[in-house]
Amino acid sequence: MDYFEIVGKNHLEGNIVVSGAKNAVLPIMAASILNNSSLKIKNVPTLSDSKTMAAILEGMGSKVSFSNNDTINIDNSGLNIPFASYDLVRTMRASFYVLGPLLARFKQAKVSLPGGCAWGPRPVDFHINAFEQLGVKIDLENGYVVADASNIKGGKIHFPKISVGATGNVLMLAVLADGVTVITNAAAEPEIQQLCQMLNNMGADISGIGTNTLTIKGVSSLKNLEEISIIPDRIEAGTFMIATAAVGGKVVLENVNPLHLKEVTKQLMNVGITVIEKNNIIEVHSEGDNIKFSNIETNEYPGFPTDLQAQWMILMCLANGDSTLKENIYFDRFTHILELNRLGCKISLEGSLAKIKGNRNLIGANVMSTDIRASAALIIAALCAEGKTSISRVYHIDRGYDKIEEKLTKLGAQIIRKK
Ligand code: UD1
Repeated sequence: MDYFEIVGKNHLEGNIVVSGAKNAVLPIMAASILNNSSLKIKNVPTLSDSKTMAAILEGMGSKVSFSNNDTINIDNSGLNIPFASYDLVRTMRASFYVLGPLLARFKQAKVSLPGGCAWGPRPVDFHINAFEQLGVKIDLENGYVVADASNIKGGKIHFPKISVGATGNVLMLAVLADGVTVITNAAAEPEIQQLCQMLNNMGADISGIGTNTLTIKGVSSLKNLEEISIIPDRIEAGTFMIATAAVGGKVVLENVNPLHLKEVTKQLMNVGITVIEKNNIIEVHSEGDNIKFSNIETNEYPGFPTDLQAQWMILMCLANGDSTLKENIYFDRFTHILELNRLGCKISLEGSLAKIKGNRNLIGANVMSTDIRASAALIIAALCAEGKTSISRVYHIDRGYDKIEEKLTKLGAQIIRKK
């Protein structure tokens, strides 16, 4: 199993090009199911998650090929098996995105529940309830959702809590449902905005894009879209911004959308980091010391993203005072705390509020990745620590970060992947 060996304390200097967004490419690959033609997707990050979605499409009869490092070509002319197996879906929650477009196109589908879980703690109940409200008949058989959408029609959906996945899934069904669907408390994340724009370019009629109310007037069919380019990954960019702030140095991020990172930029500036925005470039300058403490919380877009919570936590371990960080999206998303504490951080938890002691001196140690973003926080911590840190289970990071060790090495970090 691959692991990273990192020697800390090197400032980060130079330019890197941010990859396309993982959370945009996955629903867009799923949306290709909506017709039987070919789609070229550009600015695709090289990630195990995009390969998983490709394997799911191939299992349904599509032909998927990767070219030029950042392009996926999907040919859906042979896609005729509306089925997604447990083996693939269990490895990636976003696989569940295929249910909406499969039902829209084939009127029936059989898709494994993600992680094989029931309607339990990482649930898909919002997806299921919304589908049922639109007239989909759903049975649960041996861990699979078996669904029939022969009698669907538009309707009113209100999500109890904003959900990126449920919004995307319902959108991909509602575009081809008879009548009008109105989703309230819908996700406004840039990745959902790009999905809506893609669907409209295929002939769908979605309004309210970028707000929390989406109105979808169903159409009878969608036309082919030849090509789409994925928006920049705001979470990858934010991770590099926070890494530069924590380690110190001067980094120029190319291929970013500063508008998508407004809250992250604001919070970095609040703690004393210099951030300069120029069109599709962000520059970050930091001495790597004299970082101010902060009290912030994660929220849905345009709030501070939960996907940068772990990375912000390590930054606050280095701050000149004690901080708090409240997690409002995933109340239990804190597996990184124990690992960060092994490196000398002092973080405690009260419910979903992390209390972070500042002014910490970090010392390298052996630590373990537990999820994509927790791994990114461990890398940042290792880059700030005295001596050598070994991070195991880097397959987590390979799910969501495109060649992170190559990008960091280019910036002067000492990071090696070992087997
Ligand atoms: C997406 C992102 C993930 C990000 C998350 C929140 C992708 C591929 N992944 O995940 O990186 O961390 O948004 O920004 O885009 N919930 C329910 N029932 C449901 C669905 C969600 O209770 O049926 C809850 C979740 O447990 C969570 C909250 O709603 O507390 C938001 O989750 P959601 O936005 O759905 O996350 P994902 O779409 O899975």
